[in-house]
Amino acid sequence: MSGFFCYPHRRKETQMRFRNLAIIVLASVLSSCNSAPAPDPAKAPVAPVSEAHGNLAQVMRAIMFPNSNVIFFVQSNDPTKVKPSSDPASATDILASTYGGWDAVENSSLALMEAANLLMVPGRKCSNGKDVPIQNADWGKFVQQLRDAGMVAYKAAQSKNQDNILAAADTLTTACGGCHENYRDKPGGNPNRCM
Ligand code: HEC
Repeated sequence: MSGFFCYPHRRKETQMRFRNLAIIVLASVLSSCNSAPAPDPAKAPVAPVSEAHGNLAQVMRAIMFPNSNVIFFVQSNDPTKVKPSSDPASATDILASTYGGWDAVENSSLALMEAANLLMVPGRKCSNGKDVPIQNADWGKFVQQLRDAGMVAYKAAQSKNQDNILAAADTLTTACGGCHENYRDKPGGNPNRCM
């Protein structure tokens, strides 16, 4: 009797065990799809510079120089009055390009803000062969000032107000100059780069 009654019971139990097992396996498969921890943006590693990279002076000339000039230009010129280039899609003056006017001022501000990160990339050299001093606390502080100044300029560009740009240009000059005084030009015209 017990055999008769127990069989279906045992079968049910086994079925349940299999079902439970299947659920566990499925759950673990599903959870393994999700098991990689979400990256913490604050801890995301900065990739070291690759073989083909610029030294610090080249990064400055390629990115900081042209983009800050856009903001400095707008101190005394209305960006909407810049005559578009005859071929705006290939214009070398960003203000006369397809993305000219206040858009260009916004974009150059963002370029400065974003490029602040490039000043913290490990492995970059200065033009004299010294490492960019990313480990120095004040270097990080100057980089942050540049990032903040880019944000101030971005907001000024969004406001499309030249007075705001005047103030932003001032903040920007202070940010560039503060770092240069300490890490580029030492008093007496004796360059003491990246010390
Ligand atoms: C965190 C520090 C820092 C900030 C911020 C910074 N610079 Fe520099 N800059 C330097 C250093 C150091 C050098 C020298 C680099 C080298 O010799 O490789 C340099 C070099 C330059 C050069 C090349 C000139 C030369 O003699 O080689 C230009 C142009 C320049 N910076 C423009 C700017 C502008 C414009 C800004 C602001 C928008 C700025 N920099 C912000 C540190 C900084």
